[in-house]
Amino acid sequence: GKGQYEHFMLKEIFSQPTSLKKTIEGRIDSGAEPALEDIDASTLADVERVRLVGSGTSYHAALFGAALLNQSGVSARAIRASEYDVNTGDPEPNTLFVAVTQSGETADTLGALRRAKRNGIDTIAVTNVVQSTAARIAETPLYIRAGPEIGVAATKTFSSQAVMLTLLSQVVADAADGASTVDDVERLMTDLERLPESVEEVLASSDAEAVATHYLGKDAFFFIGRGIGCSVAKEGALKFKEITYEHAEGFASGELKHGPLALVTEDTPIVAVCTRSGERTVKNAMEAQTRGAPIVAVAPAGHEAVSEADAHLSVPDVHPVCRSLLANVQLQLLSYHCAATLGRAIDKPRNLAKSVTVE
Ligand code: F6R
Repeated sequence: GKGQYEHFMLKEIFSQPTSLKKTIEGRIDSGAEPALEDIDASTLADVERVRLVGSGTSYHAALFGAALLNQSGVSARAIRASEYDVNTGDPEPNTLFVAVTQSGETADTLGALRRAKRNGIDTIAVTNVVQSTAARIAETPLYIRAGPEIGVAATKTFSSQAVMLTLLSQVVADAADGASTVDDVERLMTDLERLPESVEEVLASSDAEAVATHYLGKDAFFFIGRGIGCSVAKEGALKFKEITYEHAEGFASGELKHGPLALVTEDTPIVAVCTRSGERTVKNAMEAQTRGAPIVAVAPAGHEAVSEADAHLSVPDVHPVCRSLLANVQLQLLSYHCAATLGRAIDKPRNLAKSVTVE
């Protein structure tokens, strides 16, 4: 049941310290290379490029994974499952295909996965459901072990997928290239291991409810971020529209000035995911602020975005990849509190189903 929580979604947000512990368990060994028991790393030695495919929130996890793989020195692309057959040519040899699907039953994603199998390339399914269709089709299922998710809006499974893909990215980079080129990989691993505690910290101290009630009633919410932060911004906007029914969009920070800026007014808060120092996102947000838009900085205390912003959602000062995952938790809470204030059907938003089994 929901226990002390008013909605399954809130329960699932608050269960992330536990679900992330399960995802990580036995897979990180204090600062060393991650070990994925389910994969024989030697089979990854030939991997030259990775295609990650998913739908909705799982597509955003795929974007997260692709950004990280590229930073780690492995060429990678995230592709929307529903666009895979029209927009994607046959893969070159030595391509690894990764299906990202919480349920393991999404028709669009299964279609792409089946095609990858027909193409004869190696396939992995990152999924939450043991023996799901995706887990059975793919050569290698990688289970995120997040536990059942009841709320239609994916929360804890996104976090666990992103962590799983972070681990996978390092295993692939090590197997293929001998070493990951991601910044400060040792800190990444230690901070990932401590991620459950960091999430706990965010959950205990978040100002998301106050920010939600302060800005509710505005015309639209724009979420911006760069690199990995862009995948978090897009996920933040998707969650926001799903459960609040309010207009939200997620943009790459630098794209704001190429068009969306025309929509910006004092009634369009900009939620800026700033997880690296010296980020251009700050400048992009300030361009919107000049046009009257309030800025909500999702950043560590002391980040240059915070002094410029109108409101602040804080993330612990950990490795930038972990900050992004923690920023996402703040955005989950922001969407939740907006939807709760509006009295929405949070666990079962109108027109949506937990698992989309039609193309
Ligand atoms: C968003 C959401 C959907 C799913 C999408 C893919 O909160 O839940 O966007 O992420 O339908 O579902 P799976 O991961 O089961 O393939």
